[in-house]
Amino acid sequence: MKGKKIVLGVTGGIAAYKAAELAREFIKRGAGVHVIMTKNATEFIAPLTFQTLTGNPVFVDTFQLTGEWEIGHITLAESAHIVVVAPATANVIGKIAHGIADDLLTTTIMATRAPVLICPAMNVNMYANPIVRENMEKLAATGYRFVEAGYGELACKTEGYGRLACLEDIVEDVEDILTVKDLSGQHVLVTAGPTREAFDPVRFITNYSTGKMGYAVAVMAKRRGAKVTLVSGPTSLPQPRGVEFVPVSSARQMRDAVMANLEKATVVVKSAAVADYRPADYSESKIKKAQKPLEIRLERNPDIISEVGRDKGNRILVGFAVETDNLIRYATKKMMEKNMDLIVANDITLPGAGFAAQTNIVKILDREGGSVDLPLMDKMDVAARILDRVRELMGKQKGASRGKKR
Ligand SMILES: Cc1cc2nc3c(=O)[nH]c(=O)nc-3n(C[C@H](O)[C@H](O)[C@H](O)COP(=O)(O)O)c2cc1C
Repeated sequence: MKGKKIVLGVTGGIAAYKAAELAREFIKRGAGVHVIMTKNATEFIAPLTFQTLTGNPVFVDTFQLTGEWEIGHITLAESAHIVVVAPATANVIGKIAHGIADDLLTTTIMATRAPVLICPAMNVNMYANPIVRENMEKLAATGYRFVEAGYGELACKTEGYGRLACLEDIVEDVEDILTVKDLSGQHVLVTAGPTREAFDPVRFITNYSTGKMGYAVAVMAKRRGAKVTLVSGPTSLPQPRGVEFVPVSSARQMRDAVMANLEKATVVVKSAAVADYRPADYSESKIKKAQKPLEIRLERNPDIISEVGRDKGNRILVGFAVETDNLIRYATKKMMEKNMDLIVANDITLPGAGFAAQTNIVKILDREGGSVDLPLMDKMDVAARILDRVRELMGKQKGASRGKKR
Protein backbone atom coordinates (compact mmCIF):
# COMPACT_ATOMS: atom_id res chain seq x y z
CA MET A 1 0.00 0.00 0.00
CA LYS A 2 3.03 2.28 -0.38
CA GLY A 3 1.98 5.68 -1.69
CA LYS A 4 -1.73 4.81 -1.68
CA LYS A 5 -4.41 7.07 -0.32
CA ILE A 6 -6.84 5.32 2.01
CA VAL A 7 -10.02 7.01 3.15
CA LEU A 8 -10.94 5.42 6.49
CA GLY A 9 -14.60 5.84 7.45
CA VAL A 10 -15.28 5.45 11.16
CA THR A 11 -18.88 5.07 12.36
CA GLY A 12 -20.63 5.08 15.74
CA GLY A 13 -19.98 1.62 17.13
CA ILE A 14 -18.12 0.45 20.20
CA ALA A 15 -15.29 -0.90 17.99
CA ALA A 16 -14.48 2.65 16.82
CA TYR A 17 -11.41 2.63 19.08
CA LYS A 18 -9.95 -0.23 16.99
CA ALA A 19 -9.96 2.05 13.94
CA ALA A 20 -7.08 3.98 15.52
CA GLU A 21 -4.89 0.87 15.47
CA LEU A 22 -6.05 0.14 11.92
CA ALA A 23 -5.01 3.64 10.81
CA ARG A 24 -1.57 2.99 12.33
CA GLU A 25 -1.24 -0.32 10.46
CA PHE A 26 -2.03 1.41 7.15
CA ILE A 27 0.49 4.17 7.87
CA LYS A 28 3.14 1.61 8.86
CA ARG A 29 2.72 0.05 5.40
CA GLY A 30 3.30 3.38 3.67
CA ALA A 31 -0.27 4.54 2.97
CA GLY A 32 -1.60 8.06 3.48
CA VAL A 33 -4.72 7.88 5.66
CA HIS A 34 -7.60 10.36 5.60
CA VAL A 35 -10.27 9.77 8.21
CA ILE A 36 -13.94 10.63 7.85
CA MET A 37 -16.02 10.13 10.98
CA THR A 38 -19.77 10.13 11.39
CA LYS A 39 -20.98 12.52 14.03
CA ASN A 40 -21.96 9.56 16.22
CA ALA A 41 -18.46 8.07 15.91
CA THR A 42 -17.11 11.17 17.68
CA GLU A 43 -19.08 10.05 20.77
CA PHE A 44 -16.82 6.98 20.94
CA ILE A 45 -13.41 8.35 19.96
CA ALA A 46 -12.11 11.87 19.51
CA PRO A 47 -11.12 13.13 16.02
CA LEU A 48 -7.91 14.39 17.66
CA THR A 49 -6.72 10.76 18.01
CA PHE A 50 -6.94 10.18 14.26
CA GLN A 51 -5.57 13.60 13.42
CA THR A 52 -2.51 12.92 15.56
CA LEU A 53 -1.96 9.41 14.20
CA THR A 54 -2.47 10.25 10.53
CA GLY A 55 -1.05 13.78 10.43
CA ASN A 56 -4.10 14.77 8.36
CA PRO A 57 -7.21 16.75 9.24
CA VAL A 58 -10.19 14.60 10.21
CA PHE A 59 -13.49 15.28 8.43
CA VAL A 60 -16.85 15.07 10.11
CA ASP A 61 -18.92 17.83 8.59
CA THR A 62 -20.16 17.69 4.98
CA PHE A 63 -19.94 21.46 4.74
CA GLN A 64 -16.32 21.66 5.86
CA LEU A 65 -14.23 22.58 2.78
CA THR A 66 -10.61 21.40 2.52
CA GLY A 67 -9.41 24.33 0.43
CA GLU A 68 -10.84 27.41 -1.17
CA TRP A 69 -12.01 25.64 -4.36
CA GLU A 70 -12.27 22.07 -3.17
CA ILE A 71 -15.49 20.42 -2.15
CA GLY A 72 -14.59 18.00 0.67
CA HIS A 73 -16.48 14.87 -0.30
CA ILE A 74 -15.66 15.14 -4.01
CA THR A 75 -11.95 15.68 -3.35
CA LEU A 76 -11.75 12.70 -1.03
CA ALA A 77 -13.96 10.51 -3.22
CA GLU A 78 -11.90 11.18 -6.35
CA SER A 79 -8.43 10.95 -4.86
CA ALA A 80 -8.93 7.78 -2.77
CA HIS A 81 -7.43 4.49 -3.94
CA ILE A 82 -9.78 2.71 -1.53
CA VAL A 83 -12.44 3.59 1.04
CA VAL A 84 -12.46 1.38 4.14
CA VAL A 85 -15.39 1.64 6.57
CA ALA A 86 -14.28 0.18 9.91
CA PRO A 87 -16.24 -0.29 12.02
CA ALA A 88 -19.41 -0.07 9.93
CA THR A 89 -22.64 0.23 11.88
CA ALA A 90 -25.91 -1.43 10.85
CA ASN A 91 -27.15 2.11 10.29
CA VAL A 92 -24.43 3.10 7.83
CA ILE A 93 -24.68 -0.21 5.93
CA GLY A 94 -28.43 0.38 5.58
CA LYS A 95 -27.85 3.93 4.37
CA ILE A 96 -25.31 2.92 1.72
CA ALA A 97 -27.55 0.07 0.54
CA HIS A 98 -30.39 2.54 -0.03
CA GLY A 99 -28.42 5.37 -1.57
CA ILE A 100 -28.80 7.69 1.39
CA ALA A 101 -26.05 10.29 1.54
CA ASP A 102 -26.85 12.52 4.48
CA ASP A 103 -23.39 12.98 5.98
CA LEU A 104 -19.82 13.32 4.67
CA LEU A 105 -19.00 9.60 4.88
CA THR A 106 -22.07 8.32 3.03
CA THR A 107 -21.83 11.19 0.50
CA THR A 108 -18.17 10.32 -0.18
CA ILE A 109 -19.06 6.64 -0.62
CA MET A 110 -21.80 7.55 -3.12
CA ALA A 111 -19.38 9.77 -5.04
CA THR A 112 -16.33 7.51 -5.18
CA ARG A 113 -15.32 5.15 -7.94
CA ALA A 114 -12.65 3.57 -5.73
CA PRO A 115 -13.30 0.13 -4.22
CA VAL A 116 -15.17 0.27 -0.90
CA LEU A 117 -14.37 -2.28 1.82
CA ILE A 118 -16.96 -2.50 4.59
CA CYS A 119 -16.06 -4.05 7.95
CA PRO A 120 -19.25 -4.49 9.99
CA ALA A 121 -19.29 -4.62 13.80
CA MET A 122 -22.43 -4.82 15.88
CA ASN A 123 -24.45 -6.78 18.40
CA VAL A 124 -25.05 -10.44 17.52
CA ASN A 125 -28.80 -10.00 16.95
CA MET A 126 -28.26 -6.89 14.83
CA TYR A 127 -25.74 -8.81 12.70
CA ALA A 128 -28.13 -11.72 12.24
CA ASN A 129 -31.07 -9.41 11.49
CA PRO A 130 -32.47 -10.31 8.05
CA ILE A 131 -32.66 -6.64 7.07
CA VAL A 132 -28.93 -6.13 7.80
CA ARG A 133 -28.10 -9.38 5.95
CA GLU A 134 -30.23 -8.31 2.98
CA ASN A 135 -28.49 -4.91 2.87
CA MET A 136 -25.10 -6.60 2.93
CA GLU A 137 -26.07 -9.05 0.19
CA LYS A 138 -27.38 -6.22 -1.96
CA LEU A 139 -24.16 -4.26 -1.52
CA ALA A 140 -21.97 -7.32 -2.18
CA ALA A 141 -23.90 -7.96 -5.40
CA THR A 142 -23.15 -4.40 -6.55
CA GLY A 143 -19.40 -4.74 -5.98
CA TYR A 144 -18.96 -3.53 -2.40
CA ARG A 145 -16.52 -5.75 -0.52
CA PHE A 146 -16.92 -7.00 3.04
CA VAL A 147 -14.68 -8.37 5.73
CA GLU A 148 -17.26 -10.36 7.65
CA ALA A 149 -17.46 -9.80 11.40
CA GLY A 150 -15.77 -12.42 13.57
CA TYR A 151 -17.04 -14.66 16.38
CA GLY A 152 -16.39 -13.91 20.03
CA GLU A 153 -17.45 -12.07 23.13
CA LEU A 154 -19.12 -8.76 22.30
CA ALA A 155 -19.13 -5.50 24.24
CA CYS A 156 -22.83 -6.05 25.03
CA LYS A 157 -21.83 -9.20 27.02
CA THR A 158 -23.22 -11.61 24.44
CA GLU A 159 -21.24 -14.11 22.41
CA GLY A 160 -21.58 -14.72 18.69
CA TYR A 161 -20.85 -13.15 15.32
CA GLY A 162 -20.58 -9.37 15.35
CA ARG A 163 -17.04 -8.51 16.47
CA LEU A 164 -15.02 -6.37 14.09
CA ALA A 165 -12.86 -8.76 12.01
CA CYS A 166 -9.28 -9.00 13.21
CA LEU A 167 -7.15 -6.13 11.96
CA GLU A 168 -4.69 -8.44 10.14
CA ASP A 169 -7.57 -9.71 7.98
CA ILE A 170 -8.75 -6.18 7.19
CA VAL A 171 -5.20 -5.09 6.31
CA GLU A 172 -4.70 -8.17 4.12
CA ASP A 173 -7.94 -7.51 2.22
CA VAL A 174 -6.88 -3.92 1.61
CA GLU A 175 -3.48 -5.12 0.34
CA ASP A 176 -5.27 -7.62 -1.88
CA ILE A 177 -7.67 -5.06 -3.35
CA LEU A 178 -4.81 -2.63 -4.04
CA THR A 179 -2.60 -5.22 -5.79
CA VAL A 180 -2.53 -5.56 -9.59
CA LYS A 181 -3.76 -9.05 -10.56
CA ASP A 182 -0.88 -9.90 -12.89
CA LEU A 183 -0.95 -13.61 -11.98
CA SER A 184 -4.62 -14.20 -12.63
CA GLY A 185 -5.18 -17.44 -14.53
CA GLN A 186 -2.12 -19.02 -12.86
CA HIS A 187 -2.19 -21.72 -10.19
CA VAL A 188 0.77 -21.54 -7.83
CA LEU A 189 1.64 -24.60 -5.75
CA VAL A 190 3.80 -23.62 -2.78
CA THR A 191 5.45 -25.81 -0.16
CA ALA A 192 6.52 -24.33 3.16
CA GLY A 193 7.78 -25.13 6.62
CA PRO A 194 9.78 -28.02 8.00
CA THR A 195 8.89 -31.70 7.98
CA ARG A 196 8.79 -33.91 11.05
CA GLU A 197 10.30 -37.37 10.90
CA ALA A 198 9.06 -39.35 13.87
CA PHE A 199 10.84 -42.29 15.49
CA ASP A 200 8.35 -42.90 18.29
CA PRO A 201 4.91 -41.43 19.21
CA VAL A 202 6.42 -38.44 21.06
CA ARG A 203 9.71 -37.68 19.28
CA PHE A 204 10.81 -36.57 15.84
CA ILE A 205 13.70 -35.07 13.87
CA THR A 206 13.08 -31.68 12.27
CA ASN A 207 14.82 -28.40 11.38
CA TYR A 208 14.55 -24.68 12.15
CA SER A 209 12.27 -23.70 9.24
CA THR A 210 9.36 -21.50 10.37
CA GLY A 211 7.51 -21.45 7.02
CA LYS A 212 7.62 -17.64 6.81
CA MET A 213 9.20 -17.49 3.34
CA GLY A 214 6.77 -19.96 1.76
CA TYR A 215 3.73 -18.39 3.42
CA ALA A 216 4.88 -15.01 2.10
CA VAL A 217 5.05 -16.43 -1.45
CA ALA A 218 1.58 -17.98 -1.04
CA VAL A 219 0.00 -14.75 0.24
CA MET A 220 1.72 -12.61 -2.37
CA ALA A 221 0.68 -14.92 -5.23
CA LYS A 222 -2.91 -14.85 -3.93
CA ARG A 223 -2.82 -11.02 -3.79
CA ARG A 224 -1.61 -10.97 -7.40
CA GLY A 225 -4.65 -12.97 -8.52
CA ALA A 226 -3.29 -16.53 -8.70
CA LYS A 227 -5.09 -19.54 -7.29
CA VAL A 228 -2.80 -20.89 -4.60
CA THR A 229 -2.35 -24.29 -2.99
CA LEU A 230 -0.09 -24.22 0.06
CA VAL A 231 1.29 -27.56 1.23
CA SER A 232 2.66 -26.85 4.67
CA GLY A 233 4.63 -28.74 7.25
CA PRO A 234 3.89 -27.92 10.91
CA THR A 235 4.37 -24.19 11.65
CA SER A 236 2.97 -21.76 14.18
CA LEU A 237 1.79 -19.35 11.46
CA PRO A 238 -1.92 -18.61 10.94
CA GLN A 239 -3.44 -20.31 7.91
CA PRO A 240 -3.60 -17.67 5.14
CA ARG A 241 -7.14 -16.84 3.99
CA GLY A 242 -8.06 -17.33 0.35
CA VAL A 243 -5.49 -20.08 -0.13
CA GLU A 244 -6.13 -23.83 -0.42
CA PHE A 245 -4.30 -25.21 2.60
CA VAL A 246 -2.94 -28.77 2.76
CA PRO A 247 -1.32 -29.54 6.13
CA VAL A 248 1.23 -32.36 6.24
CA SER A 249 3.80 -33.57 8.71
CA SER A 250 6.44 -35.89 7.19
CA ALA A 251 8.42 -35.63 3.95
CA ARG A 252 6.54 -38.61 2.53
CA GLN A 253 3.19 -36.92 3.24
CA MET A 254 4.52 -33.75 1.64
CA ARG A 255 5.60 -35.68 -1.45
CA ASP A 256 2.15 -37.27 -1.81
CA ALA A 257 0.38 -33.90 -1.34
CA VAL A 258 2.64 -32.21 -3.92
CA MET A 259 2.18 -34.95 -6.52
CA ALA A 260 -1.59 -34.98 -5.94
CA ASN A 261 -1.77 -31.22 -6.58
CA LEU A 262 0.81 -30.95 -9.36
CA GLU A 263 -1.55 -31.47 -12.29
CA LYS A 264 -3.43 -28.18 -11.79
CA ALA A 265 -0.31 -26.10 -11.03
CA THR A 266 1.30 -23.76 -13.57
CA VAL A 267 4.01 -22.61 -11.14
CA VAL A 268 5.63 -24.62 -8.33
CA VAL A 269 7.58 -22.85 -5.58
CA LYS A 270 9.28 -25.33 -3.26
CA SER A 271 10.37 -23.41 -0.21
CA ALA A 272 9.80 -26.17 2.37
CA ALA A 273 12.82 -27.40 4.29
CA VAL A 274 12.16 -31.09 3.65
CA ALA A 275 14.18 -33.45 5.82
CA ASP A 276 16.64 -35.35 3.63
CA TYR A 277 16.62 -38.29 6.04
CA ARG A 278 14.11 -40.00 8.29
CA PRO A 279 14.59 -42.59 11.06
CA ALA A 280 14.64 -46.04 9.43
CA ASP A 281 12.64 -47.58 12.26
CA TYR A 282 9.55 -46.39 14.10
CA SER A 283 8.67 -47.65 17.56
CA GLU A 284 4.92 -47.85 18.24
CA SER A 285 5.58 -47.32 21.95
CA LYS A 286 7.70 -44.59 23.51
CA ILE A 287 11.39 -45.53 23.57
CA LYS A 288 12.47 -45.82 27.20
CA LYS A 289 15.50 -44.01 28.55
CA ALA A 290 18.42 -46.39 29.14
CA GLN A 291 22.04 -46.15 30.25
CA LYS A 292 23.56 -47.04 26.87
CA PRO A 293 23.54 -44.49 24.00
CA LEU A 294 20.58 -44.60 21.63
CA GLU A 295 21.40 -45.16 17.99
CA ILE A 296 18.96 -44.04 15.32
CA ARG A 297 19.71 -45.17 11.80
CA LEU A 298 18.54 -42.74 9.13
CA GLU A 299 17.39 -43.49 5.61
CA ARG A 300 16.82 -41.23 2.61
CA ASN A 301 13.54 -39.42 2.14
CA PRO A 302 12.05 -38.95 -1.33
CA ASP A 303 13.64 -36.05 -3.26
CA ILE A 304 10.39 -34.19 -4.04
CA ILE A 305 11.85 -31.42 -6.17
CA SER A 306 13.70 -33.88 -8.43
CA GLU A 307 10.47 -35.78 -8.98
CA VAL A 308 8.62 -32.53 -9.81
CA GLY A 309 11.54 -31.53 -12.08
CA ARG A 310 11.13 -34.78 -14.04
CA ASP A 311 7.37 -34.30 -14.49
CA LYS A 312 7.30 -30.55 -14.74
CA GLY A 313 6.23 -30.07 -18.39
CA ASN A 314 5.71 -26.34 -19.07
CA ARG A 315 5.42 -25.46 -15.39
CA ILE A 316 7.84 -22.98 -13.90
CA LEU A 317 9.72 -24.61 -11.05
CA VAL A 318 11.36 -22.51 -8.35
CA GLY A 319 13.52 -24.06 -5.65
CA PHE A 320 15.44 -22.75 -2.67
CA ALA A 321 18.99 -23.43 -1.58
CA VAL A 322 20.01 -22.74 1.97
CA GLU A 323 23.77 -22.92 2.30
CA THR A 324 26.48 -21.98 4.73
CA ASP A 325 29.30 -21.91 2.15
CA ASN A 326 29.91 -21.95 -1.65
CA LEU A 327 26.42 -20.51 -2.11
CA ILE A 328 26.41 -19.81 -5.85
CA ARG A 329 28.22 -23.00 -6.85
CA TYR A 330 26.03 -25.34 -4.79
CA ALA A 331 22.81 -23.51 -5.69
CA THR A 332 23.56 -23.50 -9.44
CA LYS A 333 24.44 -27.20 -9.37
CA LYS A 334 21.19 -27.99 -7.55
CA MET A 335 19.13 -25.94 -10.03
CA MET A 336 20.66 -27.69 -13.07
CA GLU A 337 20.52 -31.20 -11.64
CA LYS A 338 16.91 -30.89 -10.53
CA ASN A 339 15.57 -29.15 -13.64
CA MET A 340 14.48 -25.96 -11.85
CA ASP A 341 13.92 -22.70 -13.74
CA LEU A 342 14.95 -20.48 -10.85
CA ILE A 343 16.69 -21.02 -7.55
CA VAL A 344 16.53 -18.67 -4.59
CA ALA A 345 19.85 -18.95 -2.84
CA ASN A 346 20.42 -17.74 0.67
CA ASP A 347 23.43 -17.87 2.90
CA ILE A 348 21.98 -18.36 6.35
CA THR A 349 25.19 -17.28 8.04
CA LEU A 350 24.42 -13.63 7.15
CA PRO A 351 22.68 -11.57 9.84
CA GLY A 352 19.01 -10.99 8.88
CA ALA A 353 18.91 -14.01 6.54
CA GLY A 354 17.54 -17.50 6.89
CA PHE A 355 14.98 -19.38 8.89
CA ALA A 356 13.29 -17.56 11.75
CA ALA A 357 13.92 -13.96 10.61
CA GLN A 358 11.19 -11.79 9.09
CA THR A 359 13.81 -10.64 6.59
CA ASN A 360 16.02 -12.42 4.10
CA ILE A 361 19.02 -11.73 1.85
CA VAL A 362 18.83 -13.77 -1.33
CA LYS A 363 20.10 -14.14 -4.86
CA ILE A 364 17.64 -15.34 -7.51
CA LEU A 365 19.61 -17.38 -10.05
CA ASP A 366 18.37 -18.59 -13.43
CA ARG A 367 19.53 -21.29 -15.85
CA GLU A 368 21.14 -18.79 -18.21
CA GLY A 369 23.55 -17.59 -15.57
CA GLY A 370 21.51 -14.52 -14.60
CA SER A 371 21.46 -13.42 -10.97
CA VAL A 372 19.29 -10.88 -9.17
CA ASP A 373 21.08 -9.97 -5.94
CA LEU A 374 18.64 -8.59 -3.41
CA PRO A 375 19.67 -6.65 -0.31
CA LEU A 376 18.19 -7.29 3.16
CA MET A 377 14.42 -7.25 2.64
CA ASP A 378 11.18 -8.22 4.31
CA LYS A 379 10.17 -11.75 3.25
CA MET A 380 6.97 -10.34 1.66
CA ASP A 381 9.14 -8.14 -0.59
CA VAL A 382 11.43 -11.09 -1.39
CA ALA A 383 8.30 -13.07 -2.33
CA ALA A 384 7.21 -10.25 -4.65
CA ARG A 385 10.60 -10.23 -6.38
CA ILE A 386 10.55 -14.01 -6.86
CA LEU A 387 7.10 -13.74 -8.47
CA ASP A 388 8.35 -10.87 -10.68
CA ARG A 389 11.03 -13.25 -12.02
CA VAL A 390 8.40 -15.96 -12.52
CA ARG A 391 6.33 -13.48 -14.57
CA GLU A 392 9.36 -12.60 -16.69
CA LEU A 393 10.00 -16.27 -17.43
CA MET A 394 6.34 -16.76 -18.38
CA GLY A 395 6.64 -13.87 -20.82
CA LYS A 396 9.78 -15.47 -22.35
CA GLN A 397 8.05 -18.87 -22.61
CA LYS A 398 5.08 -17.26 -24.38
CA GLY A 399 7.38 -15.43 -26.77
CA ALA A 400 9.27 -18.67 -27.53
CA SER A 401 6.09 -20.65 -28.22
CA ARG A 402 4.82 -17.84 -30.49
CA GLY A 403 8.17 -17.92 -32.30
CA LYS A 404 7.88 -21.71 -32.79
CA LYS A 405 4.39 -21.45 -34.28
CA ARG A 406 5.57 -19.01 -36.96
C1 LIG B 1 -22.79 2.37 23.56
C2 LIG B 1 -23.28 2.15 22.19
C3 LIG B 1 -22.65 1.21 21.39
C4 LIG B 1 -23.08 0.98 20.09
N1 LIG B 1 -22.43 0.05 19.33
C5 LIG B 1 -22.87 -0.19 18.08
C6 LIG B 1 -22.21 -1.14 17.26
O1 LIG B 1 -21.21 -1.75 17.67
N2 LIG B 1 -22.68 -1.35 16.02
C7 LIG B 1 -23.78 -0.67 15.53
O2 LIG B 1 -24.17 -0.96 14.38
N3 LIG B 1 -24.40 0.23 16.28
C8 LIG B 1 -23.97 0.50 17.53
N4 LIG B 1 -24.64 1.43 18.29
C9 LIG B 1 -25.76 2.16 17.70
C10 LIG B 1 -25.27 3.28 16.78
O3 LIG B 1 -24.44 4.17 17.51
C11 LIG B 1 -26.47 4.01 16.18
O4 LIG B 1 -27.16 3.15 15.29
C12 LIG B 1 -26.06 5.26 15.47
O5 LIG B 1 -27.19 5.85 14.87
C13 LIG B 1 -25.02 5.00 14.39
O6 LIG B 1 -24.65 6.20 13.76
P1 LIG B 1 -23.66 6.24 12.53
O7 LIG B 1 -23.96 5.05 11.70
O8 LIG B 1 -24.01 7.50 11.80
O9 LIG B 1 -22.29 6.31 13.08
C14 LIG B 1 -24.21 1.70 19.59
C15 LIG B 1 -24.81 2.64 20.39
C16 LIG B 1 -24.36 2.87 21.67
C17 LIG B 1 -25.07 3.91 22.51
